[in-house]
Amino acid sequence: MSNWPYPHIVAHRGGGKLAPENTLAAIDVGAHYGHTMIEFDAKLSQDGEIFLLHDDNLERTSNGWGVAGALPWRDLLKVDAGSWFGKEFKGEPLPLLAEVADRCRQHGMMANIEIKPTTGSGPLTGKVIALAARELWEGMPAPLLSSFEIDALEAAQAAAPELPRGLLLDEWRDDWRALTARLGCVSIHLNHRLLDEARVHEIKATGLRILVYTVNQPQRAAELLGWGVDCICTDAIALIGPDFQS
Ligand code: G3P
Ligand code: MG
Repeated sequence: MSNWPYPHIVAHRGGGKLAPENTLAAIDVGAHYGHTMIEFDAKLSQDGEIFLLHDDNLERTSNGWGVAGALPWRDLLKVDAGSWFGKEFKGEPLPLLAEVADRCRQHGMMANIEIKPTTGSGPLTGKVIALAARELWEGMPAPLLSSFEIDALEAAQAAAPELPRGLLLDEWRDDWRALTARLGCVSIHLNHRLLDEARVHEIKATGLRILVYTVNQPQRAAELLGWGVDCICTDAIALIGPDFQS
């Protein structure tokens, strides 16, 4: 069984639904509720800076527009990624991964870095993020790298093989065993709707850990933990707190 320092509960996108996703303010809100691990989505600017954003495009979660990964950092740093959520978050910037690492260090939080490449840039994004994560998380528990993009995980594996990796799936794949083995994954990160108890036992029998997303009902979180799921990634960060038990 691999070294697995991570807690049972992970705050999705930093602060779940209580703060603008993937911002430093969100991380602070996650910390305020006592969370000890966060998940966030990271990608590259056109000039290779690593920053947090879920979508390819800026529109949904900022006052910017267009494909974020097509813009240089000097343009992205002017974007307001807070006002769309609430006026108290006005001016909240898109954070660089380096700032996120600092904030995690300050709060004593662990990280699940979801590598979220702009469409078509999986290999470069996986490599650059893995190399940066190795440096930025020096002296902290290793960040758990995950991605839906196989080519990003392959590149992360080649660049920083020692960092733990998780395969993200939103749809079931019958080749999950071979794929996670080839990618050297320590975990599989599944939409919780894909799981029943038998499947949890089948996966756990291989030694893989299981993270599920996005679980916002305490009853469902308790059921999944009871089956042996290792991590619940939640938007309901107040309801499903760090001390949540099955
Ligand atoms: O990493 C778990 C979860 O964040 C994956 O889905 O779309 O919220 O990034 P998404
Ligand atoms: Mg994510």
